[in-house]
Amino acid sequence: MRESARRRGLRLVLLGAPGVGKGTQAAEIRVRYGLPHIATGDMLRAAMADGSPLGQKVRAIVERGDLVPDPVIDEIMEERLARPDARDGFLLDGFPRTLVQAEYLDALLTRRGQRLDRVINIEVPEPEIVDRLSGRRVCGSCGATYHVRFSRPRRDGQCDACGGALRQRADDATEAVAERLQIYRARTAPLIELYRRDGLLLTIDGHGAPAEVLARIDAGLSE
Ligand code: AP5
Repeated sequence: MRESARRRGLRLVLLGAPGVGKGTQAAEIRVRYGLPHIATGDMLRAAMADGSPLGQKVRAIVERGDLVPDPVIDEIMEERLARPDARDGFLLDGFPRTLVQAEYLDALLTRRGQRLDRVINIEVPEPEIVDRLSGRRVCGSCGATYHVRFSRPRRDGQCDACGGALRQRADDATEAVAERLQIYRARTAPLIELYRRDGLLLTIDGHGAPAEVLARIDAGLSE
């Protein structure tokens, strides 16, 4: 089978604490493996930017770094995974994030006669996470991600891709980051053991340049 064909059809989850680089890696993996990138955080932020009823409902929760209730997320994901582009594979980023969501996803895939192929768990020590999140800047127009030291735009404050203004996410404020990390430890980290038991876990050292991390993911997926 040609490599490009073999790589299609994977059902992958990106797991990891806030700021470990899930979105950064997803931008490459989606192209390389021909998968739709389905990120609950991006979907919620788009709803907030639109001012839709969903966006109004979740804004305060997301901005203080708390988790949106499971039933809200499960409903969004059921609808998203039913779309044609997700039929033959997907890259989930930020979902599942609780044991309840993991059970929901498992039941949903079972109903469709499908299962996950791998869960990629990116690990970075907390001090580095705080550094990454405090320096993150995102484009208000196209959502491209930068960092004030590690991934600088060509012109300060301006997106290389579309020229949009760069800004800090509200949930990258110090108090919200502390809240997100605490919630990650309590509610998301238990998924690591769950997926390890299922034999799906691929643990990736998130240190180093994004290209080095991507090479580790590539190597892990081809094992
Ligand atoms: P979400 O958007 O999913 O945020 P997150 O999981 O906290 O992850 P981040 O987007 O903060 O980080 P990332 O790992 O993608 O890192 P990135 O690549 O940007 O969720 C936001 C909120 O929505 C949640 O808090 C919650 O309220 C709600 N929500 C979402 N999903 C939910 C769910 N399933 N259930 C309930 N609520 C939900 O990188 C970070 C920075 O580091 C960037 O500046 C980047 O340039 C830099 N960087 C990346 N890689 C490297 C590297 N290798 N070296 C140096 N710098 C790097």
